[in-house]
Amino acid sequence: MRKINEIFVIGDNDDLFASIQHQLSQEFRIQKLELEELKKFTIQLVLILRTEEISPLDLAQTILSQYPKAYLVYISDIQNFDLLRDLNRLGVMDYLVLPEEEWLLEERIREVTESRLSSVDNSSAVEGFKRGGGKVFTFYSGKGGAGKSLISTAFAQTLKVESTAKVLYIDLNLQYGGSETFLGLDSSRSLIDLFPVIHELNEHHIRNVAEKERHSGLEILVSPRDAEMAERIDEDFVLRLVRASKRSYDFIIIDVPTWMDERVYTTLEESEKIYYIMSFDTIAISVLKSVEHLFKQLGIVTNEKMELVMNYSGKDNELTQKDIDRFLGYPIASKIRRDLKGVQSFVNQGIPLRRELKDKKLPPVARDVQKWVRSMLK
Ligand SMILES: Nc1ncnc2c1ncn2[C@@H]1O[C@H](COP(=O)(O)OP(=O)(O)OP(=O)(O)O)[C@@H](O)[C@H]1O
Ligand SMILES: [Mg+2]
Repeated sequence: MRKINEIFVIGDNDDLFASIQHQLSQEFRIQKLELEELKKFTIQLVLILRTEEISPLDLAQTILSQYPKAYLVYISDIQNFDLLRDLNRLGVMDYLVLPEEEWLLEERIREVTESRLSSVDNSSAVEGFKRGGGKVFTFYSGKGGAGKSLISTAFAQTLKVESTAKVLYIDLNLQYGGSETFLGLDSSRSLIDLFPVIHELNEHHIRNVAEKERHSGLEILVSPRDAEMAERIDEDFVLRLVRASKRSYDFIIIDVPTWMDERVYTTLEESEKIYYIMSFDTIAISVLKSVEHLFKQLGIVTNEKMELVMNYSGKDNELTQKDIDRFLGYPIASKIRRDLKGVQSFVNQGIPLRRELKDKKLPPVARDVQKWVRSMLK
């Protein structure tokens, strides 16, 4: 493997930057980097400098989600063991404290650029998938009753039982909820219980407040289902919650309400994928057109991450898949059959459509979701 001679540095800290330049600029090209410019380069080695403004965990997460194989080194002027542990978990390889470890810097960077990168290069795809924190999949629709809660809960359950991944489900329908019905939960706890610790949120807090679906073990942050409590949750809360979840889980499945507000906006922005649920008819298409318009006004970029989930699929649909392809440019992630009787009987009994790996006979909706999840995990 060719030797790397370009080092990217992110984070505004003049003192640290000066000392890095002093140490490394003879041998390497040092390139300052802004988060917005990530896509412009091919990034292999990044030094993250400590700043007051932005958490290195967030920076690392963003970089690794785009460059899962990048080698990250955190450089600080203070020692912080908790942070060191969190960074390590995320996949940051080194943590150096300057000036004490200045002598180590050059040696370590040389070592990395010459040899270690080739071994990182060989790491398995699964590992690459995991680095950079969890993936957020948000289920959205501009139309109520499209099937967001039913399908997102079945998706999360399936992902949980068919993989070893750590999966968290978050119900952001703060006023009305929904997921508890489909997962058969009778919960006294809700995500509002995270309110007092939201500024220092960690996995332990989340696990304490999350409900567990008793068959699959899926962890669920249930909606408070209360208008007054819902109002206390703002976009800052949502951002902190989602970012902390990414640090501790492999997949975070989020159900959001139909109306757009700052909280939904924040969630969509943080999402790796937006699964837009719709049915095969002209009304659904025109609703999606106005959603696209709104997204454009808000500056939400959808064409890279939005996929359609076609629900209520059946013989008597007004439109076909061809029509959808013709009118809309998004990939279709999955087609879910309509099965009124089957779904109803599960909901009435208060049991989830999908419970265990060895479920005897899966109803059509659960089978369609299984097909989708399996193809995704491949
Ligand atoms: N493929 C399907 N087959 C049968 N019933 C379905 C299907 N999809 C959804 N349903 C039913 O339709 C109703 C609405 O679904 P769901 O609550 O998931 O929609 P939603 O998009 O979450 O609605 P809201 O906007 O109110 O949150 C539920 O009773 C659900 O069981
Ligand atoms: Mg719902």
